[in-house]
Amino acid sequence: MSNSVFQLNNQVAVVLGGTGSLGGAMAEALGAAGARVAILGRSAERGMHRAEEIRRNGGEAVYHTADALSRESLVHARDSVEKSLGPVDILINAAGGNQPEATLQPGDDFCNLPIDAWQKVFDLNLIGGTVLPCQVFGETMLLRNSGSVINVASMSGIIPLSRVVAYSAAKAAVINLTKFLAREWASRGIRVNCISPGFFPAEQNRGLLYNADGSLSPRGQQIIDHTPSGRFGHAHELAGATIFLASSMASSFVSGHNLVVDGGFSSATI
Ligand SMILES: NC(=O)c1ccc[n+]([C@@H]2O[C@H](COP(=O)([O-])OP(=O)(O)OC[C@H]3O[C@@H](n4cnc5c(N)ncnc54)[C@H](O)[C@@H]3O)[C@@H](O)[C@H]2O)c1
Repeated sequence: MSNSVFQLNNQVAVVLGGTGSLGGAMAEALGAAGARVAILGRSAERGMHRAEEIRRNGGEAVYHTADALSRESLVHARDSVEKSLGPVDILINAAGGNQPEATLQPGDDFCNLPIDAWQKVFDLNLIGGTVLPCQVFGETMLLRNSGSVINVASMSGIIPLSRVVAYSAAKAAVINLTKFLAREWASRGIRVNCISPGFFPAEQNRGLLYNADGSLSPRGQQIIDHTPSGRFGHAHELAGATIFLASSMASSFVSGHNLVVDGGFSSATI
């Protein structure tokens, strides 16, 4: 695929949260497309395992520890990546997730949802998961007038799903910030887009989608009933969207876009 617009040879890609299910699959996709990949996260064991997987498939990958909530930690990780792989061309922001305390259970009252739980969800998904890494890696991309940033939002940032109110609001803010930065940085050669996944079983939502015996939970069944594709997504199904938005040849004129990968969930009406 050397002449393909989808190849990423000589590109350095950072995947913050590449230790997780979706970020890990995105990191593997970038590695398979030829990028030199740096996985950043808090779990050395998982990060190193994923990097090893990429190398086993013929790619190049390293792991560096980074806490998305700390600017200092992100700057340190950026400097380490530059030393080990070179200047960063592609940034994927895939660290994020919900907090059970910020979720309304049946019978709960929105008016009593604790503000510290809201704060944690906004801190992780908006500030640490998006704003800080955009600032830290954007700084060096701006020096080189080149780069592609992909934020991971959520389909629930477009349609506010029941119960996950703080998470949905934080992801809506990620989509909005993506569009702001697309406008802000377009003249500086940096494209900023986001991917909004629908439902992909991952560690953090498995308990919500499945019962302990592996059968679908009532919520899981409700979601599948509403998904035109009739199933959940698989993490590897984010590969195409990731490579498309990462590649400055495939998506050279695409910025500020929110690419929804949800099996049609957000298009379906009953
Ligand atoms: N799984 C889904 O169905 C789904 C749907 C829509 C959006 N998303 C979003 O996709 C992204 C990835 O989620 P996932 O489902 O793979 O979950 P995951 O829990 O498997 O991955 C999230 C990763 O982020 C890391 N992380 C959390 N806090 C961090 C911090 N402070 N610093 C560094 N790393 C940190 C976690 O350790 C984990 O490795 C998240 O932003 C999530 O909100 C997931």
